[in-house]
Amino acid sequence: MNEYPPDMISADGSSAAPSTFKSRPYDLAVDTIPKADLDELTAWMQEYPRLTMWEETTRFEREWAEWLGVKHAVMVNSGSSADLLMYAALDTSGRSGNRKVVVPASGWSTTIAPALQFGWQAVMCESSPETFGIDPDALTRLIDKERPDTVVVVHVLGVPNRMEPILELKKQYGFNLLEDCCAAHGSRHQGRKVGTFGDLSSFSFYYGHHMSTVEGGMVCTDDEELYHHLLMLRSHGWLKDLPVEKTARLLEESGMDAFHTPFLFAIPGFNVRATDINAKLGRIQLRRLDEVVARRCKNHAAYQQGLDGVIGYARPCEGDEVSSISFCAVADSSAQRKTIVEALVREQIDTRLFTAGNLGRHPFWTRKYGVFRAPTADALYEGGFFLPNNQALSVDDVQKICDVVQSAAG
Ligand SMILES: Cc1ncc(COP(=O)(O)O)c(C=O)c1O
Repeated sequence: MNEYPPDMISADGSSAAPSTFKSRPYDLAVDTIPKADLDELTAWMQEYPRLTMWEETTRFEREWAEWLGVKHAVMVNSGSSADLLMYAALDTSGRSGNRKVVVPASGWSTTIAPALQFGWQAVMCESSPETFGIDPDALTRLIDKERPDTVVVVHVLGVPNRMEPILELKKQYGFNLLEDCCAAHGSRHQGRKVGTFGDLSSFSFYYGHHMSTVEGGMVCTDDEELYHHLLMLRSHGWLKDLPVEKTARLLEESGMDAFHTPFLFAIPGFNVRATDINAKLGRIQLRRLDEVVARRCKNHAAYQQGLDGVIGYARPCEGDEVSSISFCAVADSSAQRKTIVEALVREQIDTRLFTAGNLGRHPFWTRKYGVFRAPTADALYEGGFFLPNNQALSVDDVQKICDVVQSAAG
């Protein structure tokens, strides 16, 4: 059973940051649901509340929207489902236009998968050598040539994209901007939280992320029409979750009588609901999120300082705050990566391949589009690896990890 380390429990017995226990000294991901959170959840369940999606979900959505600074948030059962609904909402609201989308080479498979599943045309974009997000110059060229109606950015492992050129292009060409923040909770670009730049943004609450609802995700938007589509898409395409006035209007338009309301299906939907159990846990975890973010930002900055001149890594824009999920270092070659990884393993420091490296070299993509080659995405594929960042890790721990990397990197 997860326990807070004794020095992290406040006098009143409640949690203090950091919120986790250390299962192993340098794990990449730690369980962010400690015993105190499970006790609170259990106490709530002893009241025999409704467990399917209900009032706790609504409360969590409201609190999340307020925390992020957006008008609307819709909870779903994973970050991948959040990504799925972003695409689907553009389709059902009639905003997907030519159904052509620019996707980033570095990120996550399910950020791109809906484009393939829904039969959109996807065009892959080179990664930025600075942020590892989308490369603004490559994006400019692609937009000029392909004229996509949608662009997706991923804030890779928490490092914010350089948003100004992307927003400038959006203004000029008028495309939809989808923002995947599934591993970037609380990161800020020029003082503004990621997840507030796009028409829609997505977050994940899976294990090892900044906070966890076991499984869970959130789609966010300021756009009321998109919000209504997300509500319908999440639950079978029915009208039931819409505001009453909107339901009444759609009912009238459909020519059906009010008796049909509970089962009136307006659009082709899914069932990607979470439960009130997940939402309750989310509300408990959200109370600590700012402390967690501060700790992750501090660790990330310590990595940057400790590895400067030692090895490659993402260079965020000046003044950006990086609440990373893991720190991505990039060796000069696969051979150098192997040497460093062996040294890390000897010291029991958890490490792993940098998720996908270049997604354009994975079968889900190559089967349809062939292999995507680009210098930065390939460098991430050949040399990228993870170093731990989590809320149980201290700056001293980070320093020790940097020392190991430094002596192995030669
Ligand atoms: C960038 C990104 N998008 C989407 C996801 C999917 O989130 P989930 O695991 O909750 O489906 C992840 C998972 O880590 C991710 O890193």
